[in-house]
Amino acid sequence: MPVRVLMVCLGNICRSPLAEGILAHITDPACCVVDSAGTAGYHIGNPPDPRSIEVAAAHGIDISRQRCRQFVRADFDRFDYIFAMDRENLANIRRLARSADELQKVSLLLEAGGAGPQEVPDPYYGGPQGFEAVYRLIYGACEHLRGNLLQN
Ligand code: 4NP
Repeated sequence: MPVRVLMVCLGNICRSPLAEGILAHITDPACCVVDSAGTAGYHIGNPPDPRSIEVAAAHGIDISRQRCRQFVRADFDRFDYIFAMDRENLANIRRLARSADELQKVSLLLEAGGAGPQEVPDPYYGGPQGFEAVYRLIYGACEHLRGNLLQN
């Protein structure tokens, strides 16, 4: 059975689509199933932000076919690990948990990814260099997860 991982940010158009694309790119789909969602519903049905599509493409990863969706309670049943990009996302996801088991599935991506209790900064209102920085942070965490958590 593959490990099921959900990446979550606020809008599901900048950070979590990159996290989904990166982890899926560096793992075997037979071992790891990845999806992403947003805690907010501003952009449901939309593709990722063009700046995220561009930075992923520059690193050889196509995220253009992803579509935005909102995090729902049922995601606690569907996923083994839920990784939040920042503390606000973390708190908003945790608030929806119905049990200690569900709570335990949720953590900060960079913390689970070996970088300490840091957040992935929201690049939405900044320039393209913010997206490259976010890409690198997420990539490092995903490599760590592949090695330690997913064991493939
Ligand atoms: P994300 O970035 O949470 O990384 O997808 C954002 C995208 C959109 C908005 C905020 C953050 N927004 O306010 O529309």
